[in-house]
Amino acid sequence: MLPEVTATRYVTPLREGGSLPGIVEADDLGTYVMKFTGAGQGRKTLVAEVICGELGRRIGLRVPDLAGIQLDPVIGLGEPDQEVQELLKASGGLNLAMDFLPGALGFDPLAYEVGPAEAGRVIWFDALINNVDRSWRNPNMLVWHGELWLIDHGATMIWHHNWPSAAASAAKPYDASDHALARFRPDVASAAAELAPLVTEELLTEVAADVPDAWLVDEPGFENPDALRRAYVEALLPRAASIHTRIVLGEPTPDRPSQAPGWLAGRLAPAAPKGEGA
Ligand SMILES: Nc1ncnc2c1ncn2[C@@H]1O[C@H](COP(=O)(O)OP(=O)(O)O)[C@@H](O)[C@H]1O
Ligand SMILES: [Mg+2]
Repeated sequence: MLPEVTATRYVTPLREGGSLPGIVEADDLGTYVMKFTGAGQGRKTLVAEVICGELGRRIGLRVPDLAGIQLDPVIGLGEPDQEVQELLKASGGLNLAMDFLPGALGFDPLAYEVGPAEAGRVIWFDALINNVDRSWRNPNMLVWHGELWLIDHGATMIWHHNWPSAAASAAKPYDASDHALARFRPDVASAAAELAPLVTEELLTEVAADVPDAWLVDEPGFENPDALRRAYVEALLPRAASIHTRIVLGEPTPDRPSQAPGWLAGRLAPAAPKGEGA
């Protein structure tokens, strides 16, 4: 189970991404980034944040701590923004909180150099969880105290939007051509050798258990939350063993111009030689 806190003050919205998370204070005196159950993206986004965030941290990547957070929408009554008001009203009860990293900067590939080992680990992890939201356009990484932190795992595990075809979907390759770290010569093979053995059935079962029942109930085709938790484990476990062989760090194609634009690409580390890390 995740620790649970209660929101005491809505501080301000965060508008960089799409889901309008908010900075809030809680009854443990902590400051958190709160992700709302009432956001348009729905509760599966929060399930993905918990499973992937906890998994990432437990295999040694830097992910800010997560907690459940109780919201009484009344704390937002003074909030002038209509959109924020609506979001708070639609999100009474349990939401997701991520430890706020004060003073963290958004990852900038021109300002922060990532080594091949770390780039490989992040890309391998994103391949495992099928993260489509770590591109150079929108890196969803922060630099805090000189180190790289991973945030925003809501757009992952696409298979949980269509469970009947989940096994086939989870068996598919991962196209990392667009990944924010694709140009840092990611050593995906070493990352796989190091990390895949850590992604055991036990660990996956543990992180799935961290998801609150409230976000898992009433999923069509599943009798109860535990049956659905099991499905997450069954999709990720075989993928951990083999995804490194299906990571595409390819050239852009005409229908998918996947590399950073010229002004950016020219100033980044040279692309990895073809085939490396495949
Ligand atoms: N833990 C955190 N500490 C500091 N800033 C954060 C944290 N989490 C998110 N942010 C900031 O809020 C923005 C939006 O958060 P994100 O999780 O990416 O939500 P969205 O779903 O809207 O993209 C991020 O781009 C980042 O600038
Ligand atoms: Mg984001």
